[in-house]
Amino acid sequence: MQTLGLVFGGRSAEHAVSVVSANSLLNGFKSGKFRIVPLHITVSGDWLTPAESLAFIHPENHARLYIPGIEPSGLIDFLKTGIDVFFPLLHGTFGEDGTIQGFFEMLGKPYTGAGVLGSSAAMDKDITKIILASGNIPVVPWISFYDYEWEKNKESILNEAEKKFRFPVFVKPANAGSSIGISKVTEISLLGPAVTEALKYDQKVIIEAGLPVREIEISVLGNIEAKASLPGEIFPGAEFYDYEDKYITGKSTFKIPADLSEDLIRIIRDYAIRAFKLLNLEGMARIDFFIDRQTGQIYLNEINTIPGFTPISMYPKMWEASGLSYSELLETLISLAQHRFQKRNQISSHFTIKISG
Ligand SMILES: Nc1ncnc2c1ncn2[C@@H]1O[C@H](COP(=O)(O)OP(=O)(O)O)[C@@H](O)[C@H]1O
Ligand SMILES: [Mg+2]
Repeated sequence: MQTLGLVFGGRSAEHAVSVVSANSLLNGFKSGKFRIVPLHITVSGDWLTPAESLAFIHPENHARLYIPGIEPSGLIDFLKTGIDVFFPLLHGTFGEDGTIQGFFEMLGKPYTGAGVLGSSAAMDKDITKIILASGNIPVVPWISFYDYEWEKNKESILNEAEKKFRFPVFVKPANAGSSIGISKVTEISLLGPAVTEALKYDQKVIIEAGLPVREIEISVLGNIEAKASLPGEIFPGAEFYDYEDKYITGKSTFKIPADLSEDLIRIIRDYAIRAFKLLNLEGMARIDFFIDRQTGQIYLNEINTIPGFTPISMYPKMWEASGLSYSELLETLISLAQHRFQKRNQISSHFTIKISG
């Protein structure tokens, strides 16, 4: 039997969401091929042993876990020798951004989801837009700047934004998630404070046109060459789909499949698959689109490389609606991880032969 390291929690504002995702994975994963070792990362970044990690798993799921007796000092050795494949279920920074993927690469272990480059590129909303625009995938017009530029040239950045956009605009940290640090700004006097707020979460900020949007999401699965699910639509319960609405008040609702014409679905699927390849994504991604209610224009808003796996999460639900069950989805993700790992190993062993021969 293979051993799966389920890594959850993590050093991000989305720690709590990750714990819910991990519990629902345990609840829904019916495959008998794997024994699952829980590996909890605390909010301050400490890795807990499997036995310590149990405290974060619902008692109902305990029987589904394998708990080897590892001392904290032996944990790194255990990660190298005791785990066959990792399943990081960490959202946001230090999880979805290439950092933990780099750690798994250094350990020499297969892991689910995107690699280092795809993860970090998709985490940065500015870089994502630059890459998508280069592939003629429409993105909402934006400007970006760093904290030092803001400190030096506040006035000229404010002027540029005022010239380029009509209000409202959205101000976002380039690297964040779950709507953290994001503001909808309705007049120029509120733009400075919104930038200050976004700069709490990242050194780089984007300002983009605020549009009257429908919010459409789609799930992608595969290794670079991928397939897309049926799209779904989110109906936010608040003025926009903010953190509270996503995780606290939960007033938002959804519809799968989204009410869209065949043509629109085809276009959105095509953009999603092209975006997945352009950004070097692997394994999975939930790709979020906007449709402007006034003009009908489609925009690719953002890409999540480790989407939520909670009972109400869109990524697995859109696959379910497309004929792939929760368990089959997880098994596919794991086999994609192993396939990529084998393929990379083949390439690197050819390389070794070449230089030594
Ligand atoms: N340009 C925009 N126009 C209209 N609504 C937006 C815009 N950008 C973001 N929003 C709203 O804010 C939410 C969060 O923004 P998003 O870019 O998806 O960030 P996050 O990575 O935190 O989910 C979106 O789901 C949407 O409701
Ligand atoms: Mg979003």
